[in-house]
Amino acid sequence: MTAEQEINELRKELERHNKLYYLEAQPEISDYEFDQLLKQLETLENSHPEFFDPNSPTQRVGGGVTKNFETIAHRSVMLSLSNSYNKEEIEDFINRIKKTIEEPVEFVCELKYDGAAISIRYENGQLKQAVTRGDGTKGDDISTNVRTIRTIPLKLKGDYPSDFDIRGEIFMTLDGFAKLNSERQEQGLETFANPRNSAAGTLKMQDSSIVAKRPLDSFLYFVLAKDNKAKTHYESLVNAASWGFKTPDPDKNYIKRVKSIEEILEFINYWDTKRHSLPFEIDGIVIKVNSFKQQEILGYTAKSPRWAIAYKFKAEQAETRLVKVTYQVGRTGAITPVANLKPVLLAGTTVKRASLHNQDQIEKLDLHLGDFVYVEKGGEIIPKIVGVNINARPADSEKIQFITHCPDCNTQLTRIEGEAQHYCPNATGCPAQVKGRIQHYISRKAMNIDGIGSETIDLFVDKGLIQNMADLYELRPDEILSLEGFKEKSVQNIMEGIEQSKTVEFKNVLFGLGIRFVGATVASKLVKHFKSIDNLKSASKEQLLEVDEIGERIADSVILFFSDQANVKLIERLRLKGVQFEANEIEGQTIRLEGLKFVVSGVFESFSRDELKQTIELHGGKNVASVSSKTDYIVAGDGMGPSKKAKAEKLGVKIIDEEEFKALIE
Ligand code: IVH
Repeated sequence: MTAEQEINELRKELERHNKLYYLEAQPEISDYEFDQLLKQLETLENSHPEFFDPNSPTQRVGGGVTKNFETIAHRSVMLSLSNSYNKEEIEDFINRIKKTIEEPVEFVCELKYDGAAISIRYENGQLKQAVTRGDGTKGDDISTNVRTIRTIPLKLKGDYPSDFDIRGEIFMTLDGFAKLNSERQEQGLETFANPRNSAAGTLKMQDSSIVAKRPLDSFLYFVLAKDNKAKTHYESLVNAASWGFKTPDPDKNYIKRVKSIEEILEFINYWDTKRHSLPFEIDGIVIKVNSFKQQEILGYTAKSPRWAIAYKFKAEQAETRLVKVTYQVGRTGAITPVANLKPVLLAGTTVKRASLHNQDQIEKLDLHLGDFVYVEKGGEIIPKIVGVNINARPADSEKIQFITHCPDCNTQLTRIEGEAQHYCPNATGCPAQVKGRIQHYISRKAMNIDGIGSETIDLFVDKGLIQNMADLYELRPDEILSLEGFKEKSVQNIMEGIEQSKTVEFKNVLFGLGIRFVGATVASKLVKHFKSIDNLKSASKEQLLEVDEIGERIADSVILFFSDQANVKLIERLRLKGVQFEANEIEGQTIRLEGLKFVVSGVFESFSRDELKQTIELHGGKNVASVSSKTDYIVAGDGMGPSKKAKAEKLGVKIIDEEEFKALIE
């Protein structure tokens, strides 16, 4: 057997075991034996890189890091479903259909999986690209991450269409979610709020080897193929299962063909009570017309198919007692009231706190201390109070009075007319705000100072070592060492982290300053436009408004920030310490190619390929690897591949030569 044959055999064998394990839950070999086979394949592949295949079982462990996911247009829009919440709406749906379709209609009832939607493209039986739903017309290319999900086949078996998209939901099982969260808790990391968030968050991670370790799973619910042999939705899912996809199991009543409204309601009622015993979360039931012919007759509205509807389960509620209301002070001084509750089990988690947003919310609920309140967990991370059981109110209970003074510094609170939020105006003296601002400054998206966490900042402020961000740069090792719990090594990490932050780009610094409404994206836009803090500081409102996507609210906030001398002084101090307040200008840099995507192909006279690519980037353009409808130009040199050329012509992408390219940048 040649190495190539051996590699292929091993791949096939491993794919078979993968399927037995993950789809059929009937493994034939032990995990150990599986790992041995995988290692064998890995070794062979390593010594024969010419047989590399992104769809090899060895690639399930991930490894690729994606800095920015490429935006990809969906070949056909990813629609959503119209929602219904009661029996009457389902009856209306069926009656509307019966008006259009005279023949008998068969329906398919399915579970509405609560995860993240995905569209996956297969060409010649190979996984080509996996894209998030995004805004429905375009999403992010998260192929490297999706390849690590074991229930999604990389190579198909049987009689599949040569080119098709399949859509479905990626989710995290409850078990997997609980395990992940307890691991994170042990490591002192933040835990995820619910399985859906953790699935969606995981899919957007840059490092696919971390994704590979997360327990993601999938169900596929929609095949989009020109040459689909199936005549019905149900049949198309049976077919998809035979190609290797995970589709719902009729034996578990995950999917059912029905003919009457009674049967539909029976399916809904069954899962409304049984859904808590499922190993994953669902938020409703989906009802679809089975026949493709009938689907086509019914058609679509702008947003959703007329042949399908979702029935959403009511959000779960629990009743518990309001013990007290506490108040949090944010880094901007905004005060958020928080309801502290007698712990209660709700949708599988214990709820102890609920956000109350602001004073108006408290008034609206007419909250009294000791009230029995209804808490609800919608899609949100933090549960909310939706009502009060007035009948259970203790006779002598006191109405909640919103605080008048800051819980942290005791300054009298203010409330700007027309705004719902209360603020503590003591920006420089209020410890909670001081800590919040420095914590924001060191955070990952800002200065990313390793070695310091939020608790350390709290401690430094409490001990009087620092009062603002600039003070960080004057910290002395011996001061920190004298605090309890700090050793040489951790002090060294802190000092190095702070030193390192002086090399952080200006756009991160600007974000780190914590100007209200200036998030990471806005900061980046401002830096691109104004280049330096001095330019930004002296910009007029009109000049600020000229920047793409900067509106009144942001412009006013920037001006307000620089009108405060304390901020100006702070920036001066940071600058003296060596923090970056200017965009790194690179010689020759322009924005002539901004927003344009290029594919470089062939050999050139006055550039090497790498030089050409660098030149594109120098002028603000972007290099992409393959031609798509999103590509603006192909720069073609000698010996450009014929398939690229054909594809470009088909898609109408402009092909230019070296000279034409030079003209573009001059
Ligand atoms: S069918 C053209 N079936 O619900 C119709 N969707 O608002 C395509 N979902 O984002 C959707 N389970 O991600 C369909 N069994 C199921 C589903 C399902 C969950 C999600 C889907 C979509 C949303 C619809």
